[in-house]
Amino acid sequence: MLDFWDYLDRLVTESRIVIDRPRGSAHPRYPKLIYPLDYGYLDRTHAIDGGGVDVWLGSQAERILDAVALTVDLNKRDVEVKLLLGCNAAEKQVVLDFLNGASMRAEIVHRQAGLAWLESRRSVRRFLPQEVPRPLIEQILAAATWAPSAHNRQPWRFAVIAALQHKTRLAQALGEVFWHDLARDGLPEPEISAQVERSRQRIQQAPLVILLCLDRSVGDVYPDEKRQQAEYLMGVQSAALAGGYLLLAAHTVGLAGVWMCAPLFAPAAAQQALELPEAWEPQALILLGYPAQIPPTRPRQPIEEITRFWY
Ligand SMILES: Cc1cc2nc3c(=O)[nH]c(=O)nc-3n(C[C@H](O)[C@H](O)[C@H](O)COP(=O)(O)O)c2cc1C
Repeated sequence: MLDFWDYLDRLVTESRIVIDRPRGSAHPRYPKLIYPLDYGYLDRTHAIDGGGVDVWLGSQAERILDAVALTVDLNKRDVEVKLLLGCNAAEKQVVLDFLNGASMRAEIVHRQAGLAWLESRRSVRRFLPQEVPRPLIEQILAAATWAPSAHNRQPWRFAVIAALQHKTRLAQALGEVFWHDLARDGLPEPEISAQVERSRQRIQQAPLVILLCLDRSVGDVYPDEKRQQAEYLMGVQSAALAGGYLLLAAHTVGLAGVWMCAPLFAPAAAQQALELPEAWEPQALILLGYPAQIPPTRPRQPIEEITRFWY
């Protein structure tokens, strides 16, 4: 059955898009408001304000409709739906910021909801050269803290780095250990250089780098090795869950990221580079930003191959 979005697609394809407020033009009543993207409406359609259905047009060549903005305006006392066509994640954020004006609040609703939304998360390794606003990253970190944790001890810790100088210091420290590991493997030097340089660039070019750590001081202490090891594993599992939540939270707000295991091979170097407390054991590096490129889906194994049911 065709759903809500399919019907919206039909409305768009059967309509002419009229851009009456191009990007850079001023709002007719509030001249200080400059349109950050092309804004217009679908010709011969009807919205609640008596005009056509509003459209924001992004930079993507394919005018895919994958989100709408819902607005509530307390001055006009109305609620509207605005279509976002061909907008990348950064453009959606710009529209949201524009719409969240004095009397108005907006929310973006993405096409993919429910379980399909989980499937649409990709590990993204290339980012637009655009800063991630700090309030947004704080929101994502807060979402990550809703992960379950052993004894609700919440052992995850985050070192959040946007400053290039600190990214460089971390990348350098990880790179040195990586270099020695590859040299010990007997790799030829040009190959080592290329691999280390690729890793360094990845870290430096990501708008945001988060070192996910486990705080080893918050777990229970046992007299025997077996239970101590289980307690440690519970901490690692809890921190990893927070990392998973973080990636999903980022995906929800239009950011993307990738989990990098590099600090597992150089925990002391990462810790020292950022002068972290001794108890913060690095678990992973999460690179985040607005995606420049969404990689293709990597296949998953069918459930029947990885599950045993007793039903
Ligand atoms: C524990 C863990 C370690 C990973 N380490 C790396 C890494 O070092 N470098 C990298 O590019 N991707 C890394 N990834 C990302 C995986 O390659 C990616 O999740 C996997 O290929 C599936 O792709 P998808 O996330 O786009 O579905 C890691 C993921 C996990 C969960």
